[in-house]
Amino acid sequence: MGANKSKILTGAKSIFVANVKGGVGKSTLSIMLARSLAERMPAQNITVIDTDLQRTATEFLSKSNPEINVEFLPITPAFENTNISLVQQFIKQIEFRPGHVAIVDTPAGSSQRLWNLVAEGYCVLIPTTLSNADLYPTENFIRSMDKVKARYNKSYPHLIVCPNKIPFGQKDFTVMAERLKNHDVVIGPPLRDLASVRHFYNGKIENWEKKTNTNAQTDFKQFGSFIEKFVLYEELDKIYSKNNIPRNVVPIR
Ligand SMILES: Nc1ncnc2c1ncn2[C@@H]1O[C@H](COP(=O)(O)OP(=O)(O)OP(=O)(O)O)[C@@H](O)[C@H]1O
Ligand SMILES: [Mg+2]
Repeated sequence: MGANKSKILTGAKSIFVANVKGGVGKSTLSIMLARSLAERMPAQNITVIDTDLQRTATEFLSKSNPEINVEFLPITPAFENTNISLVQQFIKQIEFRPGHVAIVDTPAGSSQRLWNLVAEGYCVLIPTTLSNADLYPTENFIRSMDKVKARYNKSYPHLIVCPNKIPFGQKDFTVMAERLKNHDVVIGPPLRDLASVRHFYNGKIENWEKKTNTNAQTDFKQFGSFIEKFVLYEELDKIYSKNNIPRNVVPIR
């Protein structure tokens, strides 16, 4: 995968990280994806747009990876109109900067205007655990995305479900795949339930770097290489352009 670094990316990509459900790992995934991609491409070509008033991604990345661009554009009922159009403008501008990637961390909640914005992306990463308490709202979220896509007759964004906080040793995702089989989604590589990630926001970020976190490094590295191949190098487009669309593939592992 490292050999790809010299390849020219075909177009800019906007990646939204979203789910109606809170606490599923949207901000953590946004942060770790940005960090992982920064090892594969120039960090100045990566922009994280933090639309969550909680500023999780902004605070973390400004300390851990100041070389990655971060834009804080909170989307809350009070700022909704202005900042939604700012994020929209940003996504549009990015299209003219080949090789650029925008990762948009979004807040939990179910604003239709936010969904319409998310639907303008190239892909949506949808983190969820395997518990019903998360899968049920996740399915509803996928349905709302499907509706927006159908309304505008679009094949984008690609929807990628990201199994998160997965118990160690779990290799079987058939229950999840079965549950999502009527939706047009792909299942990405699983991220395990990792103690180092659970304590991600405790203490100093610098210390997190020093902790032994090989499991976290393994999982997020794998996730980064999945995004590089399937999103940045458009492998998903190739899969989708074939007549027989495979659904619910677990491309890695
Ligand atoms: N793979 C993981 N293993 C263990 N803990 C995790 C994992 N991913 C996320 N967490 C933990 O779950 C909690 C919620 O994560 P995070 O803040 O990223 O979720 P979120 O979806 O952004 O939440 P919100 O809806 O509040 O924005 C955090 O304490 C985080 O450390
Ligand atoms: Mg968050």
